[in-house]
Amino acid sequence: MTPAIDIRRAWRIYETDAGYTPALRGVTLSVARGEFLAIMGPSGSGKSTLMNILGCLDRPTSGTYLLEGIDVTELSEDDLAHVRASRLGFVFQSFNLLPRATVLRNVMLPLVYSDTPPHDRELAAWRALRSVGLPEEHYLHRSNELSGGQMQRVAIARALVNDPAIIFADEPTGNLDTATGEMVMRTFRRMQRRGKTIVLITHDPEVAAWADRTVHIRDGKLFSDEEERAYLAGLAARKDGEKGAEKDGGIGPASFSPAPPASPLRSKLLGVPCL
Ligand SMILES: Nc1ncnc2c1ncn2[C@@H]1O[C@H](COP(=O)(O)OP(=O)(O)OP(=O)(O)O)[C@@H](O)[C@H]1O
Ligand SMILES: [Mg+2]
Repeated sequence: MTPAIDIRRAWRIYETDAGYTPALRGVTLSVARGEFLAIMGPSGSGKSTLMNILGCLDRPTSGTYLLEGIDVTELSEDDLAHVRASRLGFVFQSFNLLPRATVLRNVMLPLVYSDTPPHDRELAAWRALRSVGLPEEHYLHRSNELSGGQMQRVAIARALVNDPAIIFADEPTGNLDTATGEMVMRTFRRMQRRGKTIVLITHDPEVAAWADRTVHIRDGKLFSDEEERAYLAGLAARKDGEKGAEKDGGIGPASFSPAPPASPLRSKLLGVPCL
């Protein structure tokens, strides 16, 4: 079966008055259908840029991107909008709900652009809300009358209402306390069990632990879990070396720490006694 996501050698270079920013630098990633993938990385590493491209909200400057086997880099804006509306769902850190509209209206919103009849829209919204476990008593509340966790569940229901194949979530637990975040992650796992592909962005390893696989992004480049661990181990070893050198009165990293000076001249230069 073709993967849900197959992006290769993708670059995204932003062009501003200040110059060029290469936010993605040759990203290659494949996500199987039904897989739950976490993408981790520090602030500014390119996570949202990648998600915008994977979610067909933006296009790579170069590279190829096949979404469920279709080359989306070739599609028109209208066709991309159709792909988003029919195949993709989005969840954001800040919920992005209409505060004064009811829960039900918020969830029905993505269907406004489809040709679903009004009665069916309401039914679909009802179903989506039930699937994320929000009690019915809240469906006619305004969304600004809900708690953070309830708002995020409404946002997930909105992402599910068009029955998408792939759900993209950018820091969906970033504004939630640990217990509420866990509840939201359980909801994603449930969606995965129902066959959805999930791509979730987070900087929190505990959140990433809910996924089947984690990839890491740094300075616009992707790394596997193993590569990231090796990189961090190397970094820690270098830091330890520097600390050791400082403790010994050294002036640089461990690799610079000199052998005992063999001559009075070297002893003077290095400020340590000649042995
Ligand atoms: N629209 C834009 N125009 C110009 N530069 C941008 C734009 N969006 C992002 N960038 C730059 O691209 C790089 C990656 O940004 P991105 O938003 O993808 O990072 P991120 O990993 O999502 O960060 P955060 O964790 O803070 O959300 C940053 O250097 C950022 O300043
Ligand atoms: Mg971001």
